[in-house]
Amino acid sequence: MQTFTTIPEIRAWRKENQRIAFVPTMGNLHAGHLQLVREAKKYADKVVVSIFVNPTQFGINEDFADYPRTEIEDCVRLAAENCDAVFLPNIETIYSSNAQTLVSVSHVSQNYCGASRVGHFDGVATVVCKLFNIVQPNVALFGLKDFQQFLVIQTLTHDLHLPIELIGVPTVRELDGLAMSSRNGYLNETERKIAPQLYQILQNSGEQLSQGKSISAIEKNAITALTQAGFVVDYFNIARRDDLKIASDNDSNLIILVAAKLGKTRLIDNFVIENL
Ligand code: PAF
Repeated sequence: MQTFTTIPEIRAWRKENQRIAFVPTMGNLHAGHLQLVREAKKYADKVVVSIFVNPTQFGINEDFADYPRTEIEDCVRLAAENCDAVFLPNIETIYSSNAQTLVSVSHVSQNYCGASRVGHFDGVATVVCKLFNIVQPNVALFGLKDFQQFLVIQTLTHDLHLPIELIGVPTVRELDGLAMSSRNGYLNETERKIAPQLYQILQNSGEQLSQGKSISAIEKNAITALTQAGFVVDYFNIARRDDLKIASDNDSNLIILVAAKLGKTRLIDNFVIENL
């Protein structure tokens, strides 16, 4: 596995290779990321992973400084998965001091995480656009735990006519159902025991929706159940899957989206309603 830190290096490597699949990450890799790498191999000759903790997608009171940086262990794991290349740029490489350009996706960024983390999706869209331009992949893979992020990236790829195929990969979960996330490491022992209830409540809500219960009643019950379990709910919404507009009882192709805090840890998850 080759490791690059500069744009000319990764560009030179890219030129030597035909079909590239790209997995952008912020590092602290877990089984969910490794699943993306395994999937990526199905789409290309070579797989490149980027590790970059992107400052512009963190709010001022968020965990940028504390975000786990484990590049050495990450590279060992990637090498074991036969990843071909890792791109590890520093902040100056990605954001030169006089950078003035921001990529902003309007509608789909606005609600849910976009409302509670103002500027977050501008940071994501900007860095993903930069990384796409640097790596110039044919295919890029993202985990569907961050469902809203996936739609933001799909929208920018479409709107900017980027010749990149996007693949969304289903969430990888711990045995007790908790969605894998680098932030799970922030949970203390008590919080870790409570955390799987997030997915259990999503599943229960999904069942209630399939049984025809009203959206408002399901959302209200879920928020009560999460609060009783010890979560501070940021949002729990049933939305239309293609544009993330709030669903009405007659809509189909739905997704349930949730973000909630357990102590200082903000967890997000979602549940796709298959046959409705
Ligand atoms: O999902 C992530 O890890 C990040 O938001 C991404 C897409 C790598 C951009 O920094």
